[in-house]
Amino acid sequence: MRTQALYLSVGAILLAAGASTWAAKTSDEPISPIEPAVIKNPAMVELGKKLFFDPRLSKSGFISCNSCHNLSMGGTDNLKSSIGDHWQQGPINAPTVLNSSMSLAQFWDGRAKDLKAQAGGPIANPGEMGFTHELAVSVLQSIPQYVTEFHKVFGKDKVDIDQVTEAIAAFEETLVTPDSRFDQWLKGDKKALNEKELAGYTLFKSAGCVACHNGPAVGGNSFQKMGLVEPYNAKSPAEGRSAVTGKDADRFNFKVPSLRNVELTYPYFHDGEAATLEQAVDTMGRLQLGRKFNPEENSQIVAFLKTLTGKQPDIKLPILPPSNNNTPRPQPF
Ligand code: HEC
Ligand code: HEC
Repeated sequence: MRTQALYLSVGAILLAAGASTWAAKTSDEPISPIEPAVIKNPAMVELGKKLFFDPRLSKSGFISCNSCHNLSMGGTDNLKSSIGDHWQQGPINAPTVLNSSMSLAQFWDGRAKDLKAQAGGPIANPGEMGFTHELAVSVLQSIPQYVTEFHKVFGKDKVDIDQVTEAIAAFEETLVTPDSRFDQWLKGDKKALNEKELAGYTLFKSAGCVACHNGPAVGGNSFQKMGLVEPYNAKSPAEGRSAVTGKDADRFNFKVPSLRNVELTYPYFHDGEAATLEQAVDTMGRLQLGRKFNPEENSQIVAFLKTLTGKQPDIKLPILPPSNNNTPRPQPF
């Protein structure tokens, strides 16, 4: 009985997705291609890139955004949970920053409404960069090249945290990954996928994965319960969306992760407990859809998921302006 009701609810999600997202697309597919980023303000993006790579925004002078969202590794740290200030173990897996501008909100529980609101969080989080906004700003304000660059971009006399988060967000908006093989296929190159990958995509649709993983990011556009059909025994204390809404019904609802570049962003789930894509697909089938995939089906879906790896942002490592004599010194220990 219970299972049947849950199937119905997945069906209802499918129907809802069908009505809203799918009908709006020119193609009949539930997933649409990612378009390249349009850079509106190159100077701001360049400044944001420097800040993203600058470890002096942390108390230790050692941890930058890129430490945990390594752009050489799909925008993640590939760890179950991140290492923060003083080698602290983080409570939750670090999601990728790639394509995160497409999400309906930021963080697993959606507690930040957008990238700008998100970017201030880690700097002042004692378990991440362990700093304060005031100190981060005073570091930047002490470095003449930064002051000049902030002035050029924002036209203000003083650096403030608002400018910092706006610039970082502008940089992150450029971190999109178009032109995956799957997107080439969507755009009409029918040779871009082989038979196995195509069989995986067909199964991804018919099994019901697309009820939650759809749109250009193949996710990121709704909060859904982890453990819809069968409960998930999480290894982290995170409660999901209920931490934000206070509603018991939202307990264990998490933002559906984007499956773009999922080949690169292991390990999986908010607690990082699934080490491989095979494991993640198996868990999703059983817990979300009440379906046990056989090894062939599992490997077809995994093959499809690997076609979602797009063109990674082409980043030239920024050279950061040096600290000067008045710059507050890092405190790594
Ligand atoms: C110590 C590791 C660490 C550092 C440093 C760090 N992050 Fe994160 N980041 C995380 C973790 C862990 C999460 C998930 C937290 C959660 O959902 O509760 C996260 C979440 C995010 C998200 C949301 C992604 C999504 O899909 O919801 C963005 C965007 C992000 N970080 C950007 C940044 C930026 C910008 C910086 C630098 C100012 C930064 N992070 C520094 C670990 C880190
Ligand atoms: C009812 C909604 C729903 C359905 C149906 C669903 N998923 Fe998910 N998926 C989620 C949520 C929510 C998460 C995040 C869960 C967590 O981390 O606790 C997730 C996570 C994942 C992840 C891990 C991504 C990461 O970065 O950690 C993969 C891979 C995945 N799903 C694939 C699939 C596949 C394949 C199917 C079909 C067999 C499927 N999902 C069906 C909601 C769904």
